[in-house]
Amino acid sequence: MKGLLTSLFIFLLFSGAASSQTLKSSAEYRKVLMGTAVRAYALPIDKRYRNTLAQNFNKITPENDMKMARVQPTEGVFTFAKADSVVEFARKNSMLIHGHTLVWHQEMPSWVERYRGNAPALEKILKSHIQTVVGHYKGKVQYWDVVNEAIERHGYRNTIWYDTLGKDFIRRAFIYAHNADPAAKLIYNDYDIATENQKSKKVLSLLSRLRKAGTPVCAVGLQMHISENGINYGSFRRMIQKYASLGLEVHITEMDVKIKKADEKTTVRSLEKQKVIYKKIARICAESPACKSFTTWGFTDKYTWIPGFTGGRYHKPLLFTESYARKPSFYGVIDGFRKAQPMDKR
Ligand code: XIL
Repeated sequence: MKGLLTSLFIFLLFSGAASSQTLKSSAEYRKVLMGTAVRAYALPIDKRYRNTLAQNFNKITPENDMKMARVQPTEGVFTFAKADSVVEFARKNSMLIHGHTLVWHQEMPSWVERYRGNAPALEKILKSHIQTVVGHYKGKVQYWDVVNEAIERHGYRNTIWYDTLGKDFIRRAFIYAHNADPAAKLIYNDYDIATENQKSKKVLSLLSRLRKAGTPVCAVGLQMHISENGINYGSFRRMIQKYASLGLEVHITEMDVKIKKADEKTTVRSLEKQKVIYKKIARICAESPACKSFTTWGFTDKYTWIPGFTGGRYHKPLLFTESYARKPSFYGVIDGFRKAQPMDKR
């Protein structure tokens, strides 16, 4: 009897330890939210997708379903059904929602792509889009990527928004979003701004100007689509500090680590390198008081934009295999959070 109880105890101990090793529990321990991008179409058709998601993450970013082309395909006609289904999944599973994205130069509906009107008319479109979308999700979406990728190395990116409305469209976009849901945390999101370089310098000065003008921007989103060469980690740490010194939160919003298609042996090595990169970034985020979330751009290699985006040259950028097995990178993230030096994060 005693022997039986002992084995039962050992079994429970180990099964408990194994199942408690989820991404969200190790992130939570460091006061970091564990997020991922999600595709609405996969939710109803793939049970393992739903289960892995609910077990490991406490924040969801709809990967495409809230983009302007999806939610306002025709002027004045808003289609929220797909995005709503993601929000409903999040609600049922007590997850937060990170809305993505209100103002961007890509994935705009063709009626905006073709738009050739004057500034006041485009301003009306900007305002009504933001008000309607943020208003629809008021109280349900906790974070919004308000403006996405508006800066390049040399300054403002030429887009219909900038070219027609001038640089102040950014400040006004934040104000429209804030008025539609004063409780939502508003983010400026961009790529190649996680380390010190010409572009992050421009973004830093933009954010500094916005903060000085009292604009309701509360965080910077670092996309972090990176390769197996990794990044300069010291520079990453310092960059987080620089954003924090403006009073901003820092969110890792779209992380993935693409690896080059190669023979099996090379791939095994690449997967190890990928693990180390995830580990270092998770650790630095956990050790930086300003870093509030660690979000990957998907979680299973079954659903990822990387092969399509790279003409099939790269693949396997995420934390689970195509059949939902935990990859070395999964353990890298857990390890990064575990090895982080204790930090007093509020
Ligand atoms: C990508 C999606 O992952 C793809 O499925 C889609 O076809 C194109 O957009 N930066 C962003 C994201 O802010 O919205 C992009 O997502 C990836 C780059």
